[in-house]
Amino acid sequence: MDLLSIDSLTDEQIDGLLETADLFTRRGGGSTRYAGRIVFNLFYENSTRTLMSFAAAAARLGAVPLTLPVEQSSIKKGETLADTARTLNAMGPDALVMRHGEDGSVAEVAQLMDCPVLNAGDGTNEHPTQALLDALTLRQHFGRIEGLTVAICGDIRHSRVARSNRKLLERLGATVRLAGPPPLLPDDLPGGGAIDEAVRGADAVMMLRIQRERLAEELGDSPGEYLASYGLTVERLAQAAPHAVVLHPGPMNRGVEIADEIADHPRSLILRQVANGVAMRMAVLDLLLSA
Ligand code: NCD
Repeated sequence: MDLLSIDSLTDEQIDGLLETADLFTRRGGGSTRYAGRIVFNLFYENSTRTLMSFAAAAARLGAVPLTLPVEQSSIKKGETLADTARTLNAMGPDALVMRHGEDGSVAEVAQLMDCPVLNAGDGTNEHPTQALLDALTLRQHFGRIEGLTVAICGDIRHSRVARSNRKLLERLGATVRLAGPPPLLPDDLPGGGAIDEAVRGADAVMMLRIQRERLAEELGDSPGEYLASYGLTVERLAQAAPHAVVLHPGPMNRGVEIADEIADHPRSLILRQVANGVAMRMAVLDLLLSA
C-alpha cells in the first residue's frame, strides 16, 4: 500500500490513524517493533518539519531512517527520476518517503518501487500526512471534527496542504472555507474567498505561506501590505469564534501572513502540530510497514 493522497485511505484507515497517533502522543517513548527496517527519505524540495518528523517517527519505531542528500546525489549528474527510483529500489528499502516539486511525481515513482511509498508533498497536488496531523490536532483540541468550521487562508492555489486538508476535513464532517488574494485562489473556487468572511465565526483558522517559489509573477506587495489585506491579525482573529484556534503548517513568515503576536498566542496550536507530526508519521509508517 502507498499513501499518495487522502483518497488512498478508507474511512476506517483514517479513524485508525487518528486513534493510533493520539495514543503515540500520550504514550511517548519508543518501540523496537520495526528494528532492522530501513526507511529512505528522498526530498527534492526544502523541508524542516516533514523531513525531520518522518525521520524521528521511523527512529521511534525502531527503524533506521536514511536520507539521500539530494544536493550531493547523482541527480546532479543528470540521472533521471525513474533511474534514481530503480536504483534506490534495488537497495531494498522497507519504505520510501518522497517530496518533489512536480504534481504526480511521487505516484510515478511508486510504480517503480516494491516497497510502500509515502507522499511528503508533490508540487501543488497533495500532502496527506500534513492533513492527517492537522486533523489530529483539531480532534485533540475540540474532541471532534464533525461540525467544525475551518477557514484556510492564503495561497490556496499552490497549496498541497490546502488541497489535502480540504479533502480530509470535509470527509470528517467539517465545513471548510477557503480565502486568499484573487491570484492565489483556484479557478474553481465558488464565491470569492474574502478572508474576513472566511474567518467570521470560524472554530479554527489555518494560515498558509505565499509559495513565492511557485509564483509565475511577483505579487508586488510591499512589506506589511499582505498582512493588512490578507493576513491574520489580532483584529481579524477577534472576528472568529471566541474559542477559535490558529493553525499553520509552517514555515511561517511572521508579519506577512501571520502577525507576530498571533504566532505566539496561547490560541496558536502551531507547535502542537509539529509534535503531532511525529506521532502521525509513526502511525502512518506503522500502517504501511505492517501491511
Ligand atoms: C508545507 C509544504 O511544504 O507543503 N510545509 C510543510 O510541509 N509543513 C507548506 C509550505 O511550504 O508553505
